[in-house]
Amino acid sequence: MTRYEFLKNLGLTGSALFAVTCLGGLQACGNSSEEDPQPTPNANQVILDLTQAANANLRNVGGSVILTDRRIVVARVAQDRVVAVTQVCSHQQNPNVSFNANANEFQCSVHGARFNTQGQGLNANGSNGLRVFTSTLDVAGNRVTISLV
Ligand code: FES
Repeated sequence: MTRYEFLKNLGLTGSALFAVTCLGGLQACGNSSEEDPQPTPNANQVILDLTQAANANLRNVGGSVILTDRRIVVARVAQDRVVAVTQVCSHQQNPNVSFNANANEFQCSVHGARFNTQGQGLNANGSNGLRVFTSTLDVAGNRVTISLV
């Protein structure tokens, strides 16, 4: 059992595990030949593996996926950027927001609310904006991380 595995078995995850292993000097960080800890999702995060078929749309600019269980729409708006917004429209709280790649904006199918990729409303029904979640795209790692807090 490696030190990393031992610490992980103690229940340490994510940044706590990183802090103990890297900052505590127990493991060389950066170019370690020892296996690097994989990011561990927690209750405040969603991590999408872009190698999975369900997330394949996010491999290309203009693609999007809807996480129906979380009611989140994730769109690949640029080669190096994704945007994650709530699927629940701010107009009358219907979960009908989706991404329109041709217009490069989020739209609600119920009454036509429109939102830009910063979540700002583009018409009267969208005037309350959309909640935008902090998200990162790791192109090399084929991974999207969405913070829910
Ligand atoms: S509920 Fe979305 S536009 Fe009315």
